[in-house]
Amino acid sequence: MTRSWQIWRDRRGRLSYLRFSVLALLLLPLLKAIFEAGGIAHGARPLNELIHRAGFWALVFLGTTLAVTPFRRIFRYGKLLDVRRMLGVGTFCYIAAHLLLFYADQSYSPSKALHEITHRVYLIIGAIAWLGLAALAVTSTDGMVRRLGPMRWRRLHQVSYFIALLALIHYFQQTKADVTVPIFAASLFCWLIAYRLIAAWRQASNLSTSYLFLLAIVVSLITFIGEAIGIGLAFHVSPLRVLETIFNFDVGIRPGWRILVAGLTVAAVDAVLARWKSGDVPARAVAAE
Ligand code: HEM
Repeated sequence: MTRSWQIWRDRRGRLSYLRFSVLALLLLPLLKAIFEAGGIAHGARPLNELIHRAGFWALVFLGTTLAVTPFRRIFRYGKLLDVRRMLGVGTFCYIAAHLLLFYADQSYSPSKALHEITHRVYLIIGAIAWLGLAALAVTSTDGMVRRLGPMRWRRLHQVSYFIALLALIHYFQQTKADVTVPIFAASLFCWLIAYRLIAAWRQASNLSTSYLFLLAIVVSLITFIGEAIGIGLAFHVSPLRVLETIFNFDVGIRPGWRILVAGLTVAAVDAVLARWKSGDVPARAVAAE
């Protein structure tokens, strides 16, 4: 009985409320879809709606998995590492459902599905990302960590940043109208990648509060400029004209502002916790990343 509960226990053998909470978080989009099943079924394209939901949540959970390393340091909460694998496997479940629903939408015809995938660039990119996530899921077991060795395993799992980039391209390419959410998602990934790159460059396990403030500002600027160039290219207008409108809040809050607020909030939390908590991230756990 105790053994069957092993997966829900932390390293000290106690029932892990963190793991239960993450399971609840992972199940939330599924429960929401079940709750809204009536509305979805009566929509114009129920299967397409479910494909979108599964893809969106896979991307959200992929980002959450990548956020574990910086957030456990910023929040001084080493236990977060305990749920990284669970988040990764959850991501794969949603992405498996995404492909399965796509297959159902292609009338369960392998040749039709394969033809569709190989004839659309955004689907080719999605398929490469899918295969990458499958490889990460297969190699996520303790046995595979031992077989590959920690160094090679870590290097392999760093591919997840490249996979996230492909998933974002796939997301952008299939978006037909409003790109606000994809741009915000891209800015969050940009923050995550920049955090890891700066930490690696400084050979530090975490970034100081001033670096986090700087990171928030730089990523926000990149987001404003990237959005302006994107809109400029798409609508044949000068990116400078687009930049002039960033203070026009009548048309909505631009992703650049959103990432600025999110980044500054994280930096402020870091500043507070740096005073209150000395850090409960054990050296052994840092070595395991
Ligand atoms: C073989 C692999 C894949 C196939 C066949 C596929 C297929 C699709 C299709 C058909 C759509 C809807 C497009 C439309 O309605 O025009 C879509 C949207 C999407 N896919 Fe995929 N996809 C794949 C892999 C992935 C992967 C690996 C990710 C991310 C981890 C992903 C994330 C998304 C997202 C975020 C959306 C848009 C969701 C939204 O609109 O909110 N897909 N995909």
